[in-house]
Amino acid sequence: MNSEERTHYCGELNRQNLNEEVCLLGWVRRKRDLGSLIFVDLRDRKGIVQLVFSQERNPEEYALAKKLRSEFVIGVKGRVLSRGEKDRNPYLPTGEIEVLVHKIEISSESDTPPFPVEDDAIINEELKLEYRYLDLRRPLQNKRIQERHKLLQLVRNHLSEEGFIEIETPFLTRSTPEGARDFLVPSRLRAGEFYALPQSPQLFKQLCMVAGFDKYFQIVRCFRDEDLRADRQPEFTQIDIEMSFPTEEIIMKMAERLLEKIFKEFSFEATFPVPKISYREAMEKYGTDKPDLRFGIEIKTISEIVKDCSFGVFRSALEKGEVIRAIAAPSQFTVSRKEHSNLEEIVKPFGAKGVIVISRVDGKPSGSPVKHIGEGLADKILNFLEVEERGSALIIAAPYSIACASLSSLRLYIGRKLKLCETSKNSLLWVHRFPAFEWSMEESRWVSCHHPFTMIREEDIPLLEKKPEEVEALAYDIVLNGFEIGGGSIRIHRENLQRKIFKVLGFTEEEAIQKFGFLLKAFKYGTPPHGGIAFGLDRLAMILMGCESIRDVIPFPKTTSGLCLMTSSPSEVDPGQLKELKLKIEKERN
Ligand code: AMO
Repeated sequence: MNSEERTHYCGELNRQNLNEEVCLLGWVRRKRDLGSLIFVDLRDRKGIVQLVFSQERNPEEYALAKKLRSEFVIGVKGRVLSRGEKDRNPYLPTGEIEVLVHKIEISSESDTPPFPVEDDAIINEELKLEYRYLDLRRPLQNKRIQERHKLLQLVRNHLSEEGFIEIETPFLTRSTPEGARDFLVPSRLRAGEFYALPQSPQLFKQLCMVAGFDKYFQIVRCFRDEDLRADRQPEFTQIDIEMSFPTEEIIMKMAERLLEKIFKEFSFEATFPVPKISYREAMEKYGTDKPDLRFGIEIKTISEIVKDCSFGVFRSALEKGEVIRAIAAPSQFTVSRKEHSNLEEIVKPFGAKGVIVISRVDGKPSGSPVKHIGEGLADKILNFLEVEERGSALIIAAPYSIACASLSSLRLYIGRKLKLCETSKNSLLWVHRFPAFEWSMEESRWVSCHHPFTMIREEDIPLLEKKPEEVEALAYDIVLNGFEIGGGSIRIHRENLQRKIFKVLGFTEEEAIQKFGFLLKAFKYGTPPHGGIAFGLDRLAMILMGCESIRDVIPFPKTTSGLCLMTSSPSEVDPGQLKELKLKIEKERN
């Protein structure tokens, strides 16, 4: 039986098909042998239907059905019948019917799978990835990939309708700095030279604007060699967009129209227009540039309140120019001794030395720091932070960035622990007015907060040489439930300004020409002002489908150490291939 003979997918059948002759193709989910009748659940990508084999009516088919085991691939022809009242399954869309089989073909047999191909199976993550094709055969996982298809089509159609043109840009290209390491591809024809896989098509999409396409988009794979997390993969997909003659507002509105359309199709609720917050305000209130605003709990600075206090921790921090910042944990969050040490573990990786906890019990400040700072001041702190009865002030004394990162994590920890995120509405937020540059301790130079092609505020141009830290970028990120799902900027389109920016970033004239000469050259031939944005499609899909990791929405993902367990890559290559590329592997000596 072939695909043209197939009349339906399993999950499509219902009472309306009663008495119809059908042909189905799929996998045996399970078999129940009840003597003269054999029941088989048949699965395909649209669902499951019950087949019946009767010894009395179709002895040959019955005999073949005896041989069936889970995951055999079969084709059947049969008649749709109503199930008896008692046998109906209200949990299955096809639960009111069954197919009495009068012809069966076994297309292929299956070994016993390493795990049950069922949604509720508990499977080791590594095994799942090694047998990803079986994992993908599980209904829920299969549905996610089909939903991803829906998302891809929706984006394509919407952007095409808005006049954007889909343009493919090269994968074998020059490195574009987006802040991560490149994956390099050695050239055979020019041995010793390398292509870089694109971290994003940033420069090509800008060149598409120079070329006059005016509105570009691409659903494109990007490659970044960076440390992986639940929301990061070394190759991931962007919805990449660029347009000519935009303003920040125009890009934001265009992006919101796209999101609104997607959310509607996925019945995902969020409020439009999306509120905006400046980078500085986000850091002040939430300690991060991607705050999860499904719940409150704002950070406040209490340096001024405690400045005259003799408590060593506060005094020495303030003397070093550090800050004292805090959040108010609600009363449901009890800070036991054990919880206190949990909190300290959370902040340690950021470089904070500890968490000072003052609680309010029976209207009074309580906790060991109270004896150091005095009840009066402790009470003042609790009042300032509006700590409720049985609530606590969690205080960090540290340099500003460490205090922000620590309190942001504590805030999230409390939010998750008290399940504050689950009950409230999804939160979409634009974060904008980013600083253009930040000082990299590692590289001892200024680096771009977004990327080096980002336009800065016109009035900040004079600050470039003397006070780069004060220069503001025309860059924006969009944040959904605490995940950065997209980011973009207005670009520099004038050669002289682009050169100045390269200079701030520490490139010599020669380096700038060597790395980005092609862009600077293009800018000499009539470049429209332009700007754009890129969404992380995988992250968006992950949130829309309520998944915990982007791996769940990527057909063939890598582990957090960048491995593909199914194909065992990366792998060593044939010495002949290395020779051809004139490459030698230096084995690490122990
Ligand atoms: P940016 O680097 O902010 O911008 O990337 C855009 C979006 O891509 C997603 N993303 C990732 N998703 C999964 N795994 C990763 N490793 C990963 N890295 C990034 C995020 C992010 O918001 N060229 C610019 C865009 C522009 O300026 O138009 C860029 O790539 O959701």
